Amino acid sequence: MITFSPSRRSLLKGAAASAAMTAVAAPALARLRAPEDPFIENLIRTMNLEEKAGQLSIFSDSVRFDGPPINPTPAQTQTRDKLFDDIAAGRVTGVFNGIGVELGRQMQKAAIEQSPHKIPLIFAADVIHGLKTAMPIPLAEACSFDPELAMRTSRAAALEATAKGIHWTFAPMVDVARDERWGRAAEGHGEDTWLGCQFAVARVKGFQGHDLKDGKHVLACPKHFAAYGAVQGGMEYNTADIPETTLREVHLPPFKAAFDAGALSTMSSFNDVGGVPSTANHYLLTDILRGEWGFHGLVVSDYTSDEELILHGYAADGPDATAKAITAGLDISMQSGFYNNYLPDLVRSGKVPMAVVDRAVRRVLHVKKALGLFDNPYRSLDLAREVSDIRTPETVALAREAARKSIVMLKNDGGLLPLPKSGKSIALIGPCIDDKADYPGPWAAFSDISTCVTMTEGFKAALDPSVVLTTARGSDYEAPLDGGIEAAVAAARASDIVVLVVGESSGMSGEAEARVEIVVPESQMRLAEAIADVGKPMVVLLRHGRALALHGAVKNAPAILATWFLGAETGNAVADVVFGDYLPQGRLAVSFPQQSGQEPLYYNHRNTGRPQLTDDMAFKARYREVTNAPLYPFGHGLTYSSLTYSDTQVSAANMSMNRSLNVTATVSNTGARPAHEVAQLYIHERVASITQPVRQLRGIKHLDLAPGQSAQVAFELTAADLAHVHHDLKWETDVGVFDVWIAPSATEGKPATFTLKA
Ligand code: BGC
Repeated sequence: MITFSPSRRSLLKGAAASAAMTAVAAPALARLRAPEDPFIENLIRTMNLEEKAGQLSIFSDSVRFDGPPINPTPAQTQTRDKLFDDIAAGRVTGVFNGIGVELGRQMQKAAIEQSPHKIPLIFAADVIHGLKTAMPIPLAEACSFDPELAMRTSRAAALEATAKGIHWTFAPMVDVARDERWGRAAEGHGEDTWLGCQFAVARVKGFQGHDLKDGKHVLACPKHFAAYGAVQGGMEYNTADIPETTLREVHLPPFKAAFDAGALSTMSSFNDVGGVPSTANHYLLTDILRGEWGFHGLVVSDYTSDEELILHGYAADGPDATAKAITAGLDISMQSGFYNNYLPDLVRSGKVPMAVVDRAVRRVLHVKKALGLFDNPYRSLDLAREVSDIRTPETVALAREAARKSIVMLKNDGGLLPLPKSGKSIALIGPCIDDKADYPGPWAAFSDISTCVTMTEGFKAALDPSVVLTTARGSDYEAPLDGGIEAAVAAARASDIVVLVVGESSGMSGEAEARVEIVVPESQMRLAEAIADVGKPMVVLLRHGRALALHGAVKNAPAILATWFLGAETGNAVADVVFGDYLPQGRLAVSFPQQSGQEPLYYNHRNTGRPQLTDDMAFKARYREVTNAPLYPFGHGLTYSSLTYSDTQVSAANMSMNRSLNVTATVSNTGARPAHEVAQLYIHERVASITQPVRQLRGIKHLDLAPGQSAQVAFELTAADLAHVHHDLKWETDVGVFDVWIAPSATEGKPATFTLKA
């Protein structure tokens, strides 16, 4: 056995040879190692307890933010005067979710000219998928299976964020979501841990860049630590009750990968893990994070999650919650004001040692120093950049590229897609087609709605001017529209082809938007049935922040594209793919169930002792109503051509622990059009001390194939790729028999087999 901790190197290795990953070259971002910085130590020595508590307290920026409330619970809204008083008194370390340079400079001026120790403020925001220029939601980008793309969109988001006075993004969300009822699946990278690690690393590199001080990059905050994606039943804020082996194997690796890539902050999650809320979970925040992983950055609570320790039943009152949180390793309290209110007295009464407070302050000051704030408190507060670096042509072009690459073609019976740009009239129908406000998607509160390109605008721009494009909403998102169906049916009747856009509104996913039934809402289903009855060729474009269970006319449509929430360039990007100017290349980062009740449904499940091998076996692990198969599996995504895979080959029947094995297959484009294919490497360990998933992704390769062209795909497997968490909670590799596939999705292909020997 060898010991394996999934380091960045080994996690990236499978993909390293692909064009995608080679571009994510490791920046030399120094991690904070030296706690004994004389400048910082001197500051700490001279600060009083109230100032120390202030350095550990962050509040929502009610001065600069003038949009609708971002957070679900009411903010302790400060008036402008109160906020300036607090800054001058050193009672805040920073503010979050406000943007704007002019007021940012005024706040920073107050901090460095009036506060007792002139410590600069840190400005944070939820920059999840773009700032002014909305990028596709992270789940959509994960479907590009192209982490380098996410690195570039994160870098573009950092450029706009720093142009608007932000130093710190509360992103990326690296929670693995295996249950699509959870609304926040939209913010993450899908159900797979390996893919999640690639995207976590890429986003940290995009946000933080090579030089965190350069003023154009932001501090990353991989969140929510930990196991937030494992909330029971997919219900927001619920308990995560998972074995530690699952915690370590499924949920922690993207965090570890993100920290290894240089991320210098993290956010504690709202949930408890096995009864201990993350915000006061010493085992998570100190033993694992600091002790095992050597993390030297800071930990911020989620929004009032320290206060919520009381309702969790983990703390009796404010002082108790504060003492438990800071002792567990929580450095900054977000929004509750608990650290300001209670820490000084807790130290004076001897309930919290001064050293514990100093440790947290030290971490915060080190991060501020790493951002260059002590050298230049006005970094990222440049009035000229606020204009010049927003919606640059490069950023807008990238938004379109990212949106195109995120689209997944689920079905294309009879080759209905791509549609012709001339010669046929088209009816474009659906509640969102002209609803600009719905285009940025969930968690894009600062985006510039007016510049979002709608479906109607995108179609009009792509189509030959001679084409008659008729549009109709047909239905509202979750309620019928008076006369909506009649108008939509008339539009369909009058046209040669129908494009029906249905699914969720952007408000139906994201935080606190868990759903019991992950379906197209009823009013839109009625619309779909009525349109299908017209009998015209129908393309369905899904809008969604999660996998959906498709039914009836939507499921049966001959062509279906998963188009998620694609951000600012939605209309253009969708038109690019629908009319064939751009080849569909997305792959599902989440399994689509046949029925909502199959959730949690994920491809890398265990086999059980009674697996369902055929459709109708009694006394098997199955439901009465449907087979266990997904409607569309993880990894699925069609091209405008047709592809075949040869059998998977291994370079030897046996592999030794310290040697690698080559796994190859030939992929051929047997169709008439070019194709962009994403070949996927999966492994399975047949017998193990902890039963292993039926398949696990370990590599991806992007291929461009002309009609008739074939290419060999090769992956190099090492023992590290075959490791799993054992009972002793260590990553180790067992000798034994392994199956390995190179396949177009998680449910296709025939495996090759090899034996790993000592
Ligand atoms: C969310 C976090 C977010 C924070 C600040 C919370 O409600 O869970 O993801 O960063 O608010 O906006």
